Amino acid sequence: MSNVNAPYECRKCPRLAHFLDEKRVSFPTYFNGPVPNFYSPDPKLMVIGLAPGMHGANQTGRPFTGDWAGDLLYSALEIYGFSTGSYDKRADDGLELKNAMITNVVRCVPPQNKPIAAEINTCRDSYHVNQLKALPKLKVMLCLGKISHDSTLRALGMRLASHKFGHGTEYEDDLGRTILSSYHCSRYNTNTKRLTERMFFDIFERARELCDA
Ligand code: URA
Repeated sequence: MSNVNAPYECRKCPRLAHFLDEKRVSFPTYFNGPVPNFYSPDPKLMVIGLAPGMHGANQTGRPFTGDWAGDLLYSALEIYGFSTGSYDKRADDGLELKNAMITNVVRCVPPQNKPIAAEINTCRDSYHVNQLKALPKLKVMLCLGKISHDSTLRALGMRLASHKFGHGTEYEDDLGRTILSSYHCSRYNTNTKRLTERMFFDIFERARELCDA
């Protein structure tokens, strides 16, 4: 098993399930479901985002695709050799990942882009935990933002107090895999220059090194 997706019918989080029910009416052409992982066989790198954007991944059905954050993420993946083909903001643009997977700690679009703690916990216990066990070649978990970092640490049974989030932090899990974290490549973080393109690319350079070691 190399991939653990939520079924399209998943209704484990009532608030998110109702929100999607509404969006199926107002945006009938959108994907409007738990967005499946985008992955190549046997990924070494797992990029872990927060949750689908309303008019991006929730529309296209592929993580970060059509989202502002996707422009920077997909260019980093291409530059550092984790993809082939060209990203064109559509799930059918022909882009393929190489030794990489993209997932989200919350698989359904949340109201105001903000999942609540119960939703993060449910999605982790239902899918994220199993997925981290299902990838034998995995070397690097690249967490985008604190929520992704914290949920991934929890999924691995690691203490948050001794493994704090920071841009560029690296920790090792029991299997010797690296949890590498970055500020999220969101519009807010890039507009405010909390995260520059160079800072983000440096994280991918490190991810490349770790994957090739
Ligand atoms: N789109 C995603 O799929 N995930 C994010 O974290 C942000 C945008």
